[in-house]
Amino acid sequence: MAAKILAFAGSARRDSLNKKLVRVAARAAREAGGEVTLIDLDDFPMPIYHGDLEDAEGLPPNALKLRELFLAHDALLIVSPENNGSVPAVLKNTIDWLSRGTGDGHGTNSGIAPYRGKVAGLAGATPGPWGTLYQCLPHLRIILTKLTVTVIPQQVPLPHADEAFDEQGELRDPKVAKSVAAFAKSLVETTLKLKA
Ligand SMILES: Cc1cc2nc3c(=O)[nH]c(=O)nc-3n(C[C@H](O)[C@H](O)[C@H](O)COP(=O)(O)O)c2cc1C
Repeated sequence: MAAKILAFAGSARRDSLNKKLVRVAARAAREAGGEVTLIDLDDFPMPIYHGDLEDAEGLPPNALKLRELFLAHDALLIVSPENNGSVPAVLKNTIDWLSRGTGDGHGTNSGIAPYRGKVAGLAGATPGPWGTLYQCLPHLRIILTKLTVTVIPQQVPLPHADEAFDEQGELRDPKVAKSVAAFAKSLVETTLKLKA
């Protein structure tokens, strides 16, 4: 039995610091035995959620694609920046679209289905001194908990992230790399325990 983990950053930006961190964390999760699919939200652009658009057209095609990916995995590894003290719009919008049902509101057609039974591990990088610790990560934890996701207590806030990576995209500080490895291992282990 493998822990299937869907990993992505909460930033669409090409040179995103959070994309760097999610690459490192995804590799650590693979090293801990996880089966990791690393995706980029920039490959799944979707309009801002609008109730009239949903009534007229249902979920946008990229929300449906992402929904299938969520359904096919046991856990989420989300590495997000912080925007004005909270979760960036691109990430919240994705979470919101995926929380809408595709049919009768039951079973795999319900809005909760892509989240039901999932485990999540959270990390976040900012150039600032707190690295998402006090605002984005707690907010994201509350949002996912409302969607019935089990969010593991371990997390990795990465402050001063603009100085944290070398030219190869590796973490410069071995202590930080170690904490990412421990976090990824906890995500894999918790996912396996809950799956069993
Ligand atoms: C609209 C906006 C709001 C931001 N608000 C915060 C904030 O509240 N706290 C913080 O630490 N950084 C904030 N930042 C800085 C981001 O953390 C920084 O741009 C980060 O590098 C973005 O993540 P990325 O590199 O993964 O794209 C903000 C940036 C933008 C564009």
